[in-house]
Amino acid sequence: MKVRGRAYRTIWPVPDGSAVEVIDQTKLPHRFATVRLVSAGDAAQAIRGMVVRGAPLIGATAAYGLALALREDASDEALDRAHGDLLATRPTAVNLRWALDRVRDAVRNRRRDVRAQEAWREAAAICDEDVETCRRIGEHGFVLLRDAAAAKPGQTVNVLTHCNAGWLACVDWGTALAPIYLAHDAGLPVHVWVDETRPRNQGASLTAFELGSHGVPHTVIADNAGGHLMQTKRVDLAITGTDRVARNGDVANKIGTYLKALAARDNGVPFYVALPSSTIDWTVPSGDAIPIEERGQTEVTHISGRLPDGSIASVEVTPQGSAAANPAFDITPARLVSGFITERGICDAGEAGLRSLFPEGGLGGAEQEQS
Ligand code: MRU
Repeated sequence: MKVRGRAYRTIWPVPDGSAVEVIDQTKLPHRFATVRLVSAGDAAQAIRGMVVRGAPLIGATAAYGLALALREDASDEALDRAHGDLLATRPTAVNLRWALDRVRDAVRNRRRDVRAQEAWREAAAICDEDVETCRRIGEHGFVLLRDAAAAKPGQTVNVLTHCNAGWLACVDWGTALAPIYLAHDAGLPVHVWVDETRPRNQGASLTAFELGSHGVPHTVIADNAGGHLMQTKRVDLAITGTDRVARNGDVANKIGTYLKALAARDNGVPFYVALPSSTIDWTVPSGDAIPIEERGQTEVTHISGRLPDGSIASVEVTPQGSAAANPAFDITPARLVSGFITERGICDAGEAGLRSLFPEGGLGGAEQEQS
């Protein structure tokens, strides 16, 4: 997607192939800066420090991180160590494990002198495929927006989204936002309610930045406003992304997603989840087995933003001494999800729906019982 007229992906190799660059998402929306990752340690630090975030982009960054590790040491031990170190950076998004396993599997049986090169190629393929996958998610989700527009001719289609599941969370296009970009580009009158998404404000800072850069009409709302907007008929549908979908269709996504799904169900608002198949964890039977990341208290006790002089500051919003809790994700039960928008089409949110589109996917039958 474009930033100030220039097309970007969120991660790209530098021309001489010695490193990858990423957009520093901790600086957005007030500053657009890039960071160079030259080692597996840099990649791990970028993921842990939220320089890059969003399930598909975490996976893509880790894939390049593993390739960078193999340049220093291509032994089996180094491969397993770097795989483990990168996997430990964040616990919830399964795309991280998916991408790391894919790179490790691609090089495991290769000669040591070609491993780094093969891993680099695989990481690049993961990125290219992610772009195409998200574009397809966009095409399938576009149909929902086109139908919603047809149901209210001449009026704006209002979509609510949570966190950031746009191109900044992926390599390009995004998942939940891809249908919105396609609809906007096709001339459909679409407007997005952007949940601010406390505590880190990925909605207010990243989704609003993305949509604004592309000219998509949007309004940032406090997280608590969504239920009211649904009750007063100002939301036509909700679309979010996800960090991991369990085999039964339960959805892990940014904290607060569950409350939006509850409000949507109570108000008859369709609630869709957009995902690439790399986000399905066939090994996890249901959402209660998905690890939920606990993050630091200061993300809750403090908030950062731009001061009138242009400098960025962090200010405290709670009384000193108050404890804070910061679970970063929650589980939305499959029964609250109207459907999954995937690269192969839209399906029911449940194991049968997932298997109808991805019959080759993971554990089932006897395997399932043993797992
Ligand atoms: O903590 P984050 O910013 O990595 O959380 C991101 C989300 O929750 C996204 O909604 C999710 O990764 C889907 S990305 C297409």
